[in-house]
Amino acid sequence: MKILGIETSCDETAAAVVEDGVRILSNQIASQVEIHARYGGIVPEVASRQHILAIIPIIEQAMAEAKATWSDLAGIAVTIGPGLAGSLLVGVNVAKAIALARGLPIMGVNHLEGHIYANWLTDRSIDFPSVCLIVSGGHSDLVLMKGHGNYVVLGRTRDDAAGEAFDKAARILKLGYPGGPAIEQAARAGTASIQLPRAWLKGTNDFSFSGVKTALLRLVEGGKVSSQADAAASFQEAVIDVLVTKTVAVAKEHRVKQILLAGGVAANGLLRQRLVKNSPLPVLIPPPVLCTDNAAMIAACGYYRFRAGKIDGLSLDVIPGLKLA
Ligand code: KG4
Ligand code: ZN
Repeated sequence: MKILGIETSCDETAAAVVEDGVRILSNQIASQVEIHARYGGIVPEVASRQHILAIIPIIEQAMAEAKATWSDLAGIAVTIGPGLAGSLLVGVNVAKAIALARGLPIMGVNHLEGHIYANWLTDRSIDFPSVCLIVSGGHSDLVLMKGHGNYVVLGRTRDDAAGEAFDKAARILKLGYPGGPAIEQAARAGTASIQLPRAWLKGTNDFSFSGVKTALLRLVEGGKVSSQADAAASFQEAVIDVLVTKTVAVAKEHRVKQILLAGGVAANGLLRQRLVKNSPLPVLIPPPVLCTDNAAMIAACGYYRFRAGKIDGLSLDVIPGLKLA
């Protein structure tokens, strides 16, 4: 059963065809990173215009790579939120147009749920319950997943998301955009020798990353940072220390079968290594290209929604502030 996935929530225009929710037949991504890098961050107006230019060619490429025709498809899955309204609208309207023209069912997918489902594309079996750590540019959520589509949010960030903190720290250190990969790259040449604070928020499963970012800013402004590489390594260490410690604690507390890592920050090598090393439970992590935004994860999630009968009508609309649970 083949599902076409479409993703336009932020700055990647993506389309993919996935079979039975697990096998990637194609995975096309048109990144706008170079365009937004000029501005040091995403410009929403520019993003939606780029999606309009890229969406049809990307869908055609995904269908061609999968060697699929419209009549091979069982349905279309599209991200409806959370994300930028003008960007989401492009994907949702194209998905609705194809669904109407071809008489295909359409499944609106929560982008965060999509990130979790990237784990179903890893060829490993997944048992419930699981704890998922979703760390992206907009979210840092610890979620208990009891079954397909069944989530309890156990903790979330109270201020900056993990990816947002990486992006802001990179700006402070003048490392460029996007910040996560830039910090990781710079950190390779340094050691985590600078003491930065960790907000443990004891007694809760919540995160806070604005304090560590402000501490870094004060050090830089005070001329106390002599090595950019050491500062990047120290910042990365501080954020990952908290993410890993709290995730492992929550997984033990809820006696889950495994930990699933998801979201753009899950592409970070140190986070991947450290979580595997510190967890007594199995840890599943998608390959980096499936951690950052893509449409294969949306198609995988859409497949499970389709199987559960969660099919939407043509009145489907974007929900920019959509929550997981
Ligand atoms: O999931 P994603 O691609 O888009 C959102 O849904 O937000 O995540 C993007 C975030 C950005 O903040 C980016 O800096 C971060 O993921 N990121 C990383 C790495 N690659 C991407 N953070 C740390 N290390 C990385 N290697
Ligand atoms: Zn994302």
